[in-house]
Amino acid sequence: MLKSKKILVTAGPTYEYLDDIRFIGNRSSGKQGAEIAKCLQKLEADVTLVIGPVNLELAGLNKVIRVESAVQMNDAVIETGPFDIAICAAAVSDWRPKVKAKTKIKKSSTGKPQFLELVENPDILKNICIAENRPDLVIGFAAETNDLLTNARSKLKNKGCDWIVANDVSKKNIGFGSDYNEVTIHYKNNPNKKEKLSLKRKSEISEEIVDRIVNQIN
Ligand code: PMT
Repeated sequence: MLKSKKILVTAGPTYEYLDDIRFIGNRSSGKQGAEIAKCLQKLEADVTLVIGPVNLELAGLNKVIRVESAVQMNDAVIETGPFDIAICAAAVSDWRPKVKAKTKIKKSSTGKPQFLELVENPDILKNICIAENRPDLVIGFAAETNDLLTNARSKLKNKGCDWIVANDVSKKNIGFGSDYNEVTIHYKNNPNKKEKLSLKRKSEISEEIVDRIVNQIN
């Protein structure tokens, strides 16, 4: 099955701090990634879950690395790799403030809002795909609010991963924070194939994704 396969799962949001108390973040709960990690561990895989700031009970998982920012997540992935398989379900912020203020940013006396300069974060998924010791199977997620199919397909190509799991995060009942999801899987080696996993619990979606991983690897 997946015994002793070294598998990375990223999950949760990243927080990119402007000062000690404010950050750029998102509503990812880490549930989808954590459920995938649990399924993989049940199949005796050696799973490392690198997860952003979330409120989840993760006691059942053997290797959990909690991080806050995208840079920390990227560092943790590099330090714990290489992996046989990587699954990137984290909602990583594409940008971070160029400078983190040493003290709480105050309103300016002119009444004009402070200018916030952003710099690009490392693209963890892309870095995994171009690494010399690339995993045999790399799976990304695409969180979209519009043009799901087109955007997912272009992410599959641009990021360099083998599969992309697309979900519509504009809907309230699935995606961010919910216990439910509905996804479509797209494959690099089979551009005409797309597999829809209709509305079900994230634990069940995870089982179906992991079944496909087992079939691919064995
Ligand atoms: O956490 P939950 O509440 O359970 O919600 C699950 C989910 C909606 C967060 C999850 O199913 C999901 O869609 N995760 C990916 C979210 C995302 O940020 O997608 P994206 O389209 O912005 O990024 C595409 C891919 O690149 C993702 O695999 C992402 O992990 C990766 N990425 C993005 C930017 C970056 N700097 N580094 C990355 O690795």
